[in-house]
Amino acid sequence: MTKPLVAGNWKMHGNANTAAELATHLALHDSAFVGVEVVIFPPAVHLDRVITAAASSMVSVGAQNMSQWASGAYTGEVSGEMLNDIGCDYVLVGHSERRALFAESNQVVAEKFKAAQQQGLTPILCVGESLQQHQQGQTVKVVTEQIAAVTDLVGTKSLCKGVIAYEPVWAIGTGEVASPEQAQAVHTEIRSQLGSQGANTRIIYGGSVNATNAGALFAQPDIDGGLVGGASLEANEFLKIAQLMVQG
Ligand code: PGA
Repeated sequence: MTKPLVAGNWKMHGNANTAAELATHLALHDSAFVGVEVVIFPPAVHLDRVITAAASSMVSVGAQNMSQWASGAYTGEVSGEMLNDIGCDYVLVGHSERRALFAESNQVVAEKFKAAQQQGLTPILCVGESLQQHQQGQTVKVVTEQIAAVTDLVGTKSLCKGVIAYEPVWAIGTGEVASPEQAQAVHTEIRSQLGSQGANTRIIYGGSVNATNAGALFAQPDIDGGLVGGASLEANEFLKIAQLMVQG
């Protein structure tokens, strides 16, 4: 398998000072990351200073969102080329908050995935079912549709070069984490849909991951890391989570 990945999604939190401090702290402690790739996702306006703070460390930096378009009259948008230009390596596409609050459809998410790869960024495709869909037993159907939109546009081979984050919406920011068995079952299903090309694709879990529950999740054979929200804002908690992946 390729290196496991632990990602920190800072969402819309912090300010210029806290962003630089957090990135500097992680960069200084990057010896803890041998055997695991660590990527942080600050708000767009802090990307530049975070990239500077993390330069020449093992910490990579990504954006939380990008435009599906290459350039043009799209007020307020940021292109993949711009992200690549300032030194981003990764970008989140289709986070459930973008899907739910900003009406990003499966089709738009697929276009963003494609645009990211065209600009040399590694997209992390976020998929996952809502609480209602979960209760109605629709998890596999929802996740399958979200993934199919991307494979229809770019093909399975390209999808497999990205990262997939399974994030059940009911577990995001709620403190209610999926059980390791529940998460493993969905990861296995996703991997089986990727066929033989998916053997080395990183499928990471997100949703209320913290230093207490990460070890059991990361011990599952098809969980190749985590996408961490709230707990990634605490430097030491995030360092602990990354170390659990090294051991897992
Ligand atoms: P959480 O967020 O860890 O705060 O639940 C995860 C995410 O939204 O990526």
